[in-house]
Amino acid sequence: MTTVAVYDAKPFDVTYLSQAAAPDQIQWRFHEFRLDAETAATTAGACVACVFVNDHVDEACLKRLQELGVRHVALRCAGFNNVDLVAARKFGLAVTRVPAYSPHAVAEHAVALLMTLARKTHRAWLRVRELNFSLTGLVGFEIYGKTAGIIGTGKIGRVTAQILHGFGVKVLAYDPFPDTEWAGRLGVNYTDMNTLLGASDIVSLHVPLMPETMHLLNEQTLALLKPGAFIINTSRGKLIETKALIKALKNGRLGGVALDVYEEEDGIFFQDLSGQVLQDDELSRLLTFPNVIVTSHQAFLTQEALTEIAKVTVENITRGAAGAPFLEGTVL
Ligand code: NAI
Repeated sequence: MTTVAVYDAKPFDVTYLSQAAAPDQIQWRFHEFRLDAETAATTAGACVACVFVNDHVDEACLKRLQELGVRHVALRCAGFNNVDLVAARKFGLAVTRVPAYSPHAVAEHAVALLMTLARKTHRAWLRVRELNFSLTGLVGFEIYGKTAGIIGTGKIGRVTAQILHGFGVKVLAYDPFPDTEWAGRLGVNYTDMNTLLGASDIVSLHVPLMPETMHLLNEQTLALLKPGAFIINTSRGKLIETKALIKALKNGRLGGVALDVYEEEDGIFFQDLSGQVLQDDELSRLLTFPNVIVTSHQAFLTQEALTEIAKVTVENITRGAAGAPFLEGTVL
């Protein structure tokens, strides 16, 4: 039996991880708190630390894990910027992740947000609950016939493009590594970033956060957008400079904005702060716009994606415990 200490564990992690393993296969120790150098002592007796996007797996933490007998850090997500891989190698710890679980989960959420903005369903739902059946102020727009600019045509960007193509949308794309064969098949037109920004009614971001993509949408690039354009960000918050976005929203340049990620989401998203005073003034301002929707980094959160994440994580834990090679493409 392999003992696994799971950090930042939410009720859905407990359900899906427990279901993915036979009862005599893994002894799970679920912790709601995060893993860092201070909480690392709680791995004592475990062979594996199973972590998520906000655990701080830095050098000091990894050193403690190694001292306590942990041999494997299993990330149950794709991103790994929170793990010091150099230190992990130094201490002889294996690190695995789930590189791709469901591009459909994220792409469908991006389109769900777009549809909500387009038909103002978020406002209509609230109204009807108050028995306000008035239609005033609820005039929407049709997605059909519009132009959408997909920035980043990796796994998620491509699925988003395919869904929008099905709506009868003209799809433009920008990616430094274009897949012209795929684009030709779908009728997607690759173009440069500035042309895409100027020609799109809808801009959807699907690029990873890297030094080159930090504040990809800033005061200068937002100014290139068509007046009334819609922005969808389900990738990473820091792709958009929030101050500039608020300015563009305040002066009415943008039709609407949907964010599943936010520049300063760490410490806010995934938490229930409903009884507290929100200290983040920019997020507070964003939440006041009638044409802005914010969800709390939930695009990945589907039954299918959680099943796949749990399956890959459990498979790697059992392979690691048996001294077998990890699943291809999951080792960092
Ligand atoms: P991917 O690695 O398959 O695709 C990323 C694409 O971006 C690649 O084609 C790459 O060439 C392109 N790219 C890189 N730099 C670029 C630039 N400067 N301009 C335009 N394109 C550029 O990644 P995938 O799986 O499609 O994920 C995209 C992003 O979605 C992830 O990086 C992550 O930030 C986000 N994500 C969000 C989730 C959520 O729950 N909200 C869940 C999973 C991923």
